[in-house]
Amino acid sequence: MNIYFAPLEGITGYSYRNAHHRLFTGIDRYYTPFVAPNYTHHFKGKEMADVAPENNAGLPLVPQILSNRPEDFLWAAGELYERGCREINLNLGCPMPTVVRKKRGAGQLADLDALDRFLEEICAGMDREYGLRTDTAATASCPDPAGQAPGLRFSVKTRIGVEDASHAADLLKIYNRYPICELTVHPRTQKDMYKNTPDLDVFAMFLEGSAHPVVYNGDICSAEDLAALRDRFPKVDAIMIGRGLITNPALARELRGGDRLRKTELRSFHDALYDEAVRTLPGTAPILGRMKELWFYMGTNFRDAERYLKEIRKSGTLVQYRAAVRTLFARCEL
Ligand SMILES: Cc1cc2nc3c(=O)[nH]c(=O)nc-3n(C[C@H](O)[C@H](O)[C@H](O)COP(=O)(O)O)c2cc1C
Repeated sequence: MNIYFAPLEGITGYSYRNAHHRLFTGIDRYYTPFVAPNYTHHFKGKEMADVAPENNAGLPLVPQILSNRPEDFLWAAGELYERGCREINLNLGCPMPTVVRKKRGAGQLADLDALDRFLEEICAGMDREYGLRTDTAATASCPDPAGQAPGLRFSVKTRIGVEDASHAADLLKIYNRYPICELTVHPRTQKDMYKNTPDLDVFAMFLEGSAHPVVYNGDICSAEDLAALRDRFPKVDAIMIGRGLITNPALARELRGGDRLRKTELRSFHDALYDEAVRTLPGTAPILGRMKELWFYMGTNFRDAERYLKEIRKSGTLVQYRAAVRTLFARCEL
């Protein structure tokens, strides 16, 4: 089974991905949080750093683009191709109102004719320039401008609708017309945001009717979750995991039958992420913001830890933060 690390904007930037790849096994591909090109055809500084080959050396990486304008998408795809990326993922799932209002992400699912035209234009453009390939067996490429074969794979990450899933079958018909190498389905609507449970009936429809390999995404947090999914869908052989991996960075290893997360390795991972946050972020507030967001997920691994986690949340300086983390690791077990 292939296991992919989902993109999580604000969390799984290159520092996170590198630390994870160095300390944990089991991930076949890391997807970048979206880059969102606009008419200026310049990546923002943070986007540029996130996809730079030197910041992703040795990482099986798939960059993701959020765009509804073919010329901007194709510009960004070209930039990524030149950096040595050989798969590009299109974000058709972001549910955030600021994105959806601009008819991007899950907002693109509201007008299927426009989506169809968009896909037609970007697929034609990518095929003309680079030659689209759909071989899923291809190993994921690391960004490396020097050593990559020609050809480009195009994948899609989608939700199942905006208000509801009543147009999901039409959506699937559209996807079936294009040379998509993998279709990742997060079976929630835009309106669901991250609430409610994934709609497995609609996922079943995608799995049965898709002309492309389908990747399941949503709420896989344990071996039991995966077992339940495989029970119902024995055909699924690729999954994408986001929050479950942020919570338990050893989850992919565990799902493959390996060791459970150890406290010492969680500590090493935390320390690597903290050092990177200090190195790359401008000041105490963003560093603490980043680390506290991680603790929202990682904190649930510890038993009887609420009062220690509260100290972490309350910390206002790096000294207080480090002391609170030290106390948590000293007093609590996973
Ligand atoms: C904080 C956060 C940021 C996210 N950023 C992105 C993103 O940049 N691109 C994307 O396709 N999905 C993004 N997602 C959605 C996840 O990739 C994933 O589809 C979702 O969390 C469901 O999977 P999970 O239940 O395994 O977490 C984000 C989700 C969260 C919670």
